[in-house]
Order: sequence, then C-alpha cells, then structure tokens
Amino acid sequence: MKLKDKVAIVTGGAQGIGRAYALRFAEEGAAVAIVDLRDEGAKKVEAEIAEKGGRAVAIKADVSSEESSNDMAKQVHDRFGRIDILMNNAAIYYDMDLTDSSIEYLRKMLDVNLLGILICGRAVFSYMREVGGGSIINISSTAAYPLPMPGMPVAENFGNYAYGLAKSGVVFLTKNMARTGGPHNIRVNAIAPGVTMSEATKKVVPDGIIEMLKAGASLGSTLEPWDLTGTAVYLASEDSKMMTGQTLVVDAGVWMNG
Ligand SMILES: NC(=O)c1ccc[n+]([C@@H]2O[C@H](COP(=O)([O-])OP(=O)(O)OC[C@H]3O[C@@H](n4cnc5c(N)ncnc54)[C@H](O)[C@@H]3O)[C@@H](O)[C@H]2O)c1
Repeated sequence: MKLKDKVAIVTGGAQGIGRAYALRFAEEGAAVAIVDLRDEGAKKVEAEIAEKGGRAVAIKADVSSEESSNDMAKQVHDRFGRIDILMNNAAIYYDMDLTDSSIEYLRKMLDVNLLGILICGRAVFSYMREVGGGSIINISSTAAYPLPMPGMPVAENFGNYAYGLAKSGVVFLTKNMARTGGPHNIRVNAIAPGVTMSEATKKVVPDGIIEMLKAGASLGSTLEPWDLTGTAVYLASEDSKMMTGQTLVVDAGVWMNG
C-alpha cells in the first residue's frame, strides 16, 4: 500500500473520476475526505469505502468559497489529525451550461475550476507544513491545450472556451503553487486527463468528438475513471518525491506535449 497512514482530501469526490480517486486512495491505505457540493453522492462513496474496511468521511463544501474550504480543512484535521494529500479535482463539468456566454458565467467557471484550486491549496497549507510536507494534485485537462487534429472544432462554443481557460490556468497555478510549497516540502503537480468516460463526459461531449479523439489516440482508446488513479497515487506518494510543478498528460496518446 502506497499511502498507508496518510490522510487525503478528494474534492469533487462524489461521482465520476473523483469517486475513483477516493476509492483508490482508500485502497492504498489512506483515510479519505470526500468533499463535494453533492452531499448524497459523497456519503455513498464514504459508505463504499467503509464497507471495504477503509476510513472515510463525506464533507459538504464549496471549493470556490474560502470560508467553506477553510472550514472543510479544519474538519478533516479534527477528524483524522493530519492532512497529507489534496486532490484538487472539483470542477463545473457535469453541470456545465454550454449555452451561457455571459461574463458572469465565465467568472463562475474561473471561481470554481481555477480559483477553487488555489483556495483549497491555501486551506491545507498550514496542516501540511505541520507534518513536514504533503502532495497537492491539481486537475487540469487536455482542454487546456490547442487541439492537435485537423478538422476538429476549436473552442466551438463559449462553454468550452471558459472551461479551457480555467484548465490552462491550472497549469500555471500548479507551477506557482509548487514554488510556494517547495521550501516546506509541499509538492504540487497536475494531471491533464484526456477524454474520460464519466457520466459528465457522456452528458457534455458530443459522440462525434469522442470518436474523433479516440481515433487520434495512439493507444486507440478513451479512458475510464480508474485509468487515472495510478497516476494520482504516483503523484500522491513518495514515488514522485522529487517531482513538483509538473503537469502530466494522461490521454492515451493524443496530445504529446513533452
Ligand atoms: N471526464 C473527462 O473527460 C475529463 C477530462 C479532463 C479533465 N476532467 C476533469 O476531471 C475532474 C472530474 O471530472 P468528472 O468527469 O468526474 O466530472 P464531474 O462533473 O462528474 O465531477 C466534478 C465534481 O465536482 C463537484 N463540484 C462542482 N463544483 C463544486 C464546488 N464548487 N465545490 C465542491 N464540489 C464541486 C461536482 O458536484 C462533481 O461531483 C474535473 O476537474 C474535470 O474537469 C475530466
């Protein structure tokens, strides 16, 4: 077990890929706080982990609110006594409104999908320092990068534009947070997943685009949520102890940034 005796927070852990990260971290021995606005879903994941003999707690919090996120971190610390890992996974994705092109909506998207990452990072910072370091993993997306294939629609609507803007900000923020955290042994890395067949993807991404991405993937496939959890464990664990400020693209070989 790679995360034995560690305490991990997974934001947006109530469903989809976040649920997979939470289950995998628990399998690897961590106590897991499942943080989400979707209280019911978070409680179900808590129960799933408990049934398998793991330690978990569901906490309702809004990652875009400093007050709510600070309170969440305190609750995790009170419950488990330490915080070692923050998986910054929550985002407006399933709930994305592709028809809203207002600046107000863009602000909301940036508040949750970008600033939420900084807010939660700040909320856990002092607790990680207290235990001599930690690992923060920010979730970006290949939506942060220009599309590699001819014929693919580029930012064909404002929703994608706002989402991509936030996710590219995550790449920058990851480097910045890594500089701040480094002297305290707090490592900050990101994962940029490619198209992953969560319920959100099935709802938001048109079938045609999914087929195009699949065709362009060197490994000839889209991802399932569980496919991302190995990279998450790697970044959360000592195996990556000399890695910080990096964004790892995990997309079956569509974007090849390195
Ligand atoms: N599915 C994909 O293809 C894909 C690809 C690249 C990146 N991602 C990213 O991976 C992450 C998970 O994706 P998913 O497919 O499971 O999406 P999802 O929409 O099912 O999961 C996101 C979770 O975040 C929660 N959330 C939203 N706003 C919140 C807030 N303000 N405070 C707390 N929780 C909040 C939602 O309730 C939801 O449970 C997201 O960051 C997404 O952008 C997904």
